[in-house]
Amino acid sequence: MRTGGQMLAQILDQLKKEVQPGVTPKQIAKSAAGYIQEAGLQAVLLGYEGYPDVICISVNDEIVHGIPGKEPFKTGDVVKLDLTVAHKGYVVDSALTLIAGEEPTGDKKRLVEGTKLAMEAGINAIKGEGTRVGDIAAAVEKVLNQHKLGVIRDLVGHGVGQNIHEEPNVPNYGVAGTGSVLPAGATICVEPMATLGDWRINVAKDGWTIVARDGSLGAHFEHTVLVTDNGAEILTLV
Ligand code: MF3
Ligand code: CO
Ligand code: CO
Repeated sequence: MRTGGQMLAQILDQLKKEVQPGVTPKQIAKSAAGYIQEAGLQAVLLGYEGYPDVICISVNDEIVHGIPGKEPFKTGDVVKLDLTVAHKGYVVDSALTLIAGEEPTGDKKRLVEGTKLAMEAGINAIKGEGTRVGDIAAAVEKVLNQHKLGVIRDLVGHGVGQNIHEEPNVPNYGVAGTGSVLPAGATICVEPMATLGDWRINVAKDGWTIVARDGSLGAHFEHTVLVTDNGAEILTLV
């Protein structure tokens, strides 16, 4: 998972540079498929519960699980890339948010930075063996609240290993000291999803894309993390 995580991080870092105004999500997905194949990784998302592509690309009020389409990115679009691959049968999963063609400012900056900081706070709440999922959840929620963001409640982080979604659920809100206890060696995905508005979501007509019900902009960051004896190791860093 450590090896696969580094490979995944490099692919996401490359794809991030390729997201530019005028480029289509479908082109990014084709590019991703090429990198996955070159690296000898398995495309976990393709065919997962019938999902039709190798990557999820969600734009603006689409929060997660967007199917890469043919509508070109525009300057200022809030773009989420979420990629899941396997290396020698072990799955790693990571996501990031970027603004197409410009540096984030104002509310978009608050959204993107707040959501990333919330992920980092969640990871920093992992103090090794015995950490409880509520510790992570509470740390994530606190930072999202500080940035006045809507905390998506109906979607969660998760354990990850030989399958993409394993026990336990890792919610993005909760109470420290509650929930399952993590053993050293556990691998989990910490992945806050947030909006500039309300937390309520809808599923789009395509049956996949999760959109903010109030149409507000959304962000998503995700790392695959190993629980160590005394802390945490991020497996999906470049
Ligand atoms: N990568 C997503 C996650 O973080 C899962 C996407 S499943 C899909 O859990 F089917 F929508 F691709
Ligand atoms: Co993911
Ligand atoms: Co995930």
